[in-house]
Amino acid sequence: MTQGRFLVVEGPEGAGKSTLIRGLAERYREAGATPLLVREPGGTPVAERLRELLLDPAHPIDSVSELFLFLAARAELVARVIRPALAQGVTVLADRFQLSTEAYQCGGRGLERGLFLAANRAATGGLEPDLTLVLDLPPELGFDRIRRAGQGFDRIERAGPEFHDRVAAVFRNATGPGITHLDATLPQEQLLRAAWDLVLARGLAAHPARRG
Ligand SMILES: Nc1ncnc2c1ncn2[C@@H]1O[C@H](COP(=O)(O)OP(=O)(O)OP(=O)(O)O)[C@@H](O)[C@H]1O
Ligand SMILES: [Mg+2]
Repeated sequence: MTQGRFLVVEGPEGAGKSTLIRGLAERYREAGATPLLVREPGGTPVAERLRELLLDPAHPIDSVSELFLFLAARAELVARVIRPALAQGVTVLADRFQLSTEAYQCGGRGLERGLFLAANRAATGGLEPDLTLVLDLPPELGFDRIRRAGQGFDRIERAGPEFHDRVAAVFRNATGPGITHLDATLPQEQLLRAAWDLVLARGLAAHPARRG
């Protein structure tokens, strides 16, 4: 069976990642596929427990511990959910993946890129997305959106404007195989159209495998 496609949406807080993932999933369903949606950290019982720990404002976490907790959640998700789905030919849409670790742990916390690369590779076993859509949005606009939506701020969202400026800079400057940037100031419908056009142009929509 053909391997499924692995698409990732990345970007700073409130950029519209989850909204775009839901829209893309709808487009896939209209095209006759049943994609699997995952979010990081999370997606397995252990990874969801790690998510609670990581986002809880009650506990400060050392930067290196934080890196390994995120990567432990990723290792679980990749091994137990993403790889098995891809092996069955299922398209996987992920709300955050390794670029978030580079942005938050290297850009935000200042950890060495070499440490990230080696440890992340251990967590993913070298799995690379077929496409990474990066939503470019100045962090203050993302926080305005979160505030307007009436959502509370988690431990990482509370890290302060300088931290989030460093995170956003890594996202904004990200380049590499399969990494494409989208202007997240666009209205939702236009952003979804631009993203889906990219998926079509890369041949990542037409896929024979179905599910369910
Ligand atoms: N293109 C857009 N233009 C304006 N507002 C948007 C757009 N996309 C999403 N929003 C709104 O912004 C808020 C944040 O969107 P969403 O939750 O999708 O972002 P996110 O990147 O997943 O955030 P988080 O980092 O907190 O998970 C929501 O209220 C959503 O309705
Ligand atoms: Mg989200």
